[in-house]
Amino acid sequence: MKGKERLLVALDVDDWQEARRLADVLAGAVGGFKVGIRLYYRAGAGVLAYLRERVPVVFADLKLHDIPSTVDGGVRALVAQGATLLNVHAAGGRAMMAAARDAAADEAERRGLIRPRVVAVTVLTSLDETALKEEVGIPEPVAVRALAWARLAQEAGLDGVVASAWEAAAIRRACGRDFIIVTPGIRPQGSSPGDQRRVVQPAEAVQAGADYLVVGRPVTGAPDPVRAVREIVASLGEG
Ligand code: C5P
Repeated sequence: MKGKERLLVALDVDDWQEARRLADVLAGAVGGFKVGIRLYYRAGAGVLAYLRERVPVVFADLKLHDIPSTVDGGVRALVAQGATLLNVHAAGGRAMMAAARDAAADEAERRGLIRPRVVAVTVLTSLDETALKEEVGIPEPVAVRALAWARLAQEAGLDGVVASAWEAAAIRRACGRDFIIVTPGIRPQGSSPGDQRRVVQPAEAVQAGADYLVVGRPVTGAPDPVRAVREIVASLGEG
């Protein structure tokens, strides 16, 4: 994959006009965009369709987690709207993940679209060891649970996981070269970590095994977002 193709910019803004302005200026310079609950819940379904006309990868980061038949319906809706990459919580279990994969494949085939990739969210990076154990009731260390969920996602037929660069190398070793790793928590040299606790530079994340890099504020908050994107791509040294 070339540097530019790896870069997914998180459109974490409340306002559709602002998101559209960013999307319009960045479209030629990135691999795609990530739409999370913040923008999707405000701007609605048309967001994905708009982006799909402009970039190869439209990542619907809506983290579905429900019973399999409900997830099936949700995934079909997202595929119809233009998502090419979407995610579900691994904690929903094998049957739920398989339902998501099957729904994405079936809906895409019915519509003559390329099969969207479905990846799993493992342990949220906001949960530390204590919270995972005492609040969520999972006694294992975060890294152990994240890896177990990555394996389960692969067994369920998912295409990959969302994982921090710190987990990427172990997941790459366990799940092989074709398993997609989507990595947030990226900070180019000199940019503010914000509320991210453990950040890595773009090239380090790729080194660790990341396929796609999700970058939000270092681009969306930059005085010149296009320049910020070009600098990140250049720092990857992949052309
Ligand atoms: O602005 P920033 O680069 O920190 O944005 C990172 C994006 O990736 C945000 O949309 C955030 O919600 C998302 N994300 C994350 N960590 C995870 C999963 C998703 O930062 N573990």
